[in-house]
Amino acid sequence: MSFLRMDQQNLEGKRVLIREDLNVAIDEGVINNDTRIRAALPTIEMARAAGAEVIIMSHLGRPVEAKSIEEQDAFSMQPVADRLAKLLGCDVEVNRDYLSMAPASKGAGSVTLLENVRINAGEKANDDVLAKSYAALCDVFVMDAFGTAHRAQASTHGVAKFALIACAGPLLASELDVLERSLNKPERPMLAIVGGAKVSSKLKVLKNLSTKVDQLIVGGGIANTFLAAEGVNVGKSLFEPHLIETARALLDTTSIPMPTDVIVAKEFDPKAVAVTKLVIDIEDDDRILDIGPETARHFAEIIRNMRTIIWNGPVGVFEFEPFSNGTQAVAKAIADSTGFSIAGGGETIAAIDKYAITDKVSYISTGGGAFLEYVQGAVLPAVEILEKRANDG
Ligand code: 3PG
Ligand code: MG
Repeated sequence: MSFLRMDQQNLEGKRVLIREDLNVAIDEGVINNDTRIRAALPTIEMARAAGAEVIIMSHLGRPVEAKSIEEQDAFSMQPVADRLAKLLGCDVEVNRDYLSMAPASKGAGSVTLLENVRINAGEKANDDVLAKSYAALCDVFVMDAFGTAHRAQASTHGVAKFALIACAGPLLASELDVLERSLNKPERPMLAIVGGAKVSSKLKVLKNLSTKVDQLIVGGGIANTFLAAEGVNVGKSLFEPHLIETARALLDTTSIPMPTDVIVAKEFDPKAVAVTKLVIDIEDDDRILDIGPETARHFAEIIRNMRTIIWNGPVGVFEFEPFSNGTQAVAKAIADSTGFSIAGGGETIAAIDKYAITDKVSYISTGGGAFLEYVQGAVLPAVEILEKRANDG
């Protein structure tokens, strides 16, 4: 990829504005999972070590634009600043006035976190005036927020148009490098596991991956549409009749092993009675909520033989205990695999957490939506603008 990189820039004595994705779930002021904050640390440390005055900006959740943070303080970056300060071992002050008053210089190695960019009027619309205000805060702009690179907003895209220097941070660069290597130059055989509720929401991902992989495992509600395409009665299970033809076309061109047994229930409920059945025995009032043990063993066997595995989406309703075994078996097989495994997406990360296999997945992306966009072959606007800036000189 032809963009400038932060580690090639002279940052000594420069004001360096880094866009990170520090969008973590916060429950009553408590951060549940700080993976995204930790993922940003090497970039911040590197900039400090190079003598930069570091200014970080990020969004947090989806606050109302053009409304003050005092009126919606659940969206304040303060808890993130506190966690950052602890992890970095230095002061991290939150600056709320950066659009009206340039932050006072605090010297090389200092770290300032700007308040949530999504309360700024024009952030989502990628407004040029706002983008110029961000650019004016720095000598060097570093885009490092892979998780938000699919959004063309003032803090991810617009600012890169106007900053004196606009470059990619190490986290963004490594996410792109790993994804490119594993999707375009994979070790084979290669497998993608795509789970989730609907074929329609993952259609582009499925189509794009089906041309790249040697095997494709579909799971969750997606698998039900494929089962229906094979003529299986899926009872009351969630499925999409209008995509049966599409599923059939994918089955014709790609190796997609179908479940032979499933776990069904009469209702969608964590306490529902779970029954294991062969797919040919599914009744009209059954709902498929997981793959069965025979299918889980078969999938685990396939996973074992792969050199590259891409995982996005659970194969069952793993949040409900009686329907979690399939996803657990898949997670365990991925953890045991000697191939290169790469995972992304909110539910997938939740499953990885639940089954404690974080250290056994080769690469976990910090992107949810951005990961999926990349996998389906879309151009990420925040990356495209960095390439444009590098090419325009
Ligand atoms: C995410 O969590 O998916 C990213 O931080 C982007 O957030 P958004 O979906 O609210 O744009
Ligand atoms: Mg999202």
